[in-house]
Amino acid sequence: MKITVVGAGKYGSTTAQRVAQADYADEVVLTDIIEGLPQGLALDLNQSRPLEGYETKVTGANDYAATAGSDIVIVTAGKPRKPGMSRMDLLKDNAEIVGSVAREIAATSPEAVVVVVSNPLDEMTALFQRVSGFPHQRVMGQAGMLDTARFCDKIAERAGVSPLAVEALTLGSHGDTMVPVPSLATVAGKPLQEVLSAGDIEEIVQATRDGGAEVVALLKAGSAYYAPSSAAAKMVASIAKDTGDRMPVCAWTTGEYGVSDVYLGVPAVLGRAGVLQVVELDLTEEELANLREAAEAVRSKQADVDSLG
Ligand code: APR
Repeated sequence: MKITVVGAGKYGSTTAQRVAQADYADEVVLTDIIEGLPQGLALDLNQSRPLEGYETKVTGANDYAATAGSDIVIVTAGKPRKPGMSRMDLLKDNAEIVGSVAREIAATSPEAVVVVVSNPLDEMTALFQRVSGFPHQRVMGQAGMLDTARFCDKIAERAGVSPLAVEALTLGSHGDTMVPVPSLATVAGKPLQEVLSAGDIEEIVQATRDGGAEVVALLKAGSAYYAPSSAAAKMVASIAKDTGDRMPVCAWTTGEYGVSDVYLGVPAVLGRAGVLQVVELDLTEEELANLREAAEAVRSKQADVDSLG
């Protein structure tokens, strides 16, 4: 199993670390345009193996020859936000970067399953699929796992319970039209509505939508990467091990929830072939309406991306 991480910045290097440390891949290749950066990180990561007790080898490279024939590719190349920026402000710059990565990956790893994490996420995922020409099933984006983790953590904090006692789900776009789904959330097995007030839930929903910006504002340079890399690594493990786990991912829609022909955050079953199935859950009327609104918002932005990359 060969797994490539494109982009050796904060998100890429922590993702490479998490995937390598999980020790199921033969090789993780880390690439970047900055000379020496992926090679230096690879050396450093490999030297942690005797201490951490894993064997996966990390290779650093500035060209795509080393990535050839990858089974899974994670695309983290691109600029992160600065305080006050929306993810959409990154559109033009990152479209150029992600477009060039898509061409290289299509040429060197034509059978890969691809997980895009560069922002704006829904648009960059659609752009990667179009430029690579890969089947939709093999190109997905990471957002829902991260947004769900943020939702769970905020619920746990407000309810005063362990984050492990919370189950929740976040759908829609990775942005203003994110759709946290309180109706399906539970705290220690109890419906969220029985544990927190409607006002508390509404506040947490909004804080979840703003969760990325909250980190950006504090860091002042760069955006979040610990939780994002955990989210990406979870998806990659599910694909690599062909687990059939269900998780929220940015996937191509074909009529589910009344939405078609757009990349959107939906629950999906993941396996070695990529997105095996989009799952339709029972949502409230309001949640469903919000999901459809998110789909239209993403659709109009994706049209802007059609001329980029
Ligand atoms: N090919 C490979 N790597 C590239 C390319 C390219 N064409 N263009 C830029 N990069 C690299 C940069 O050199 C840098 O090392 O991408 C890396 C990005 O790293 P950071 O600036 O640390 O950004 P990071 O926090 O990792 O975020 C990456 O993920 O969450 C999103 O919004 C975020 O779009 C951003 C992406």
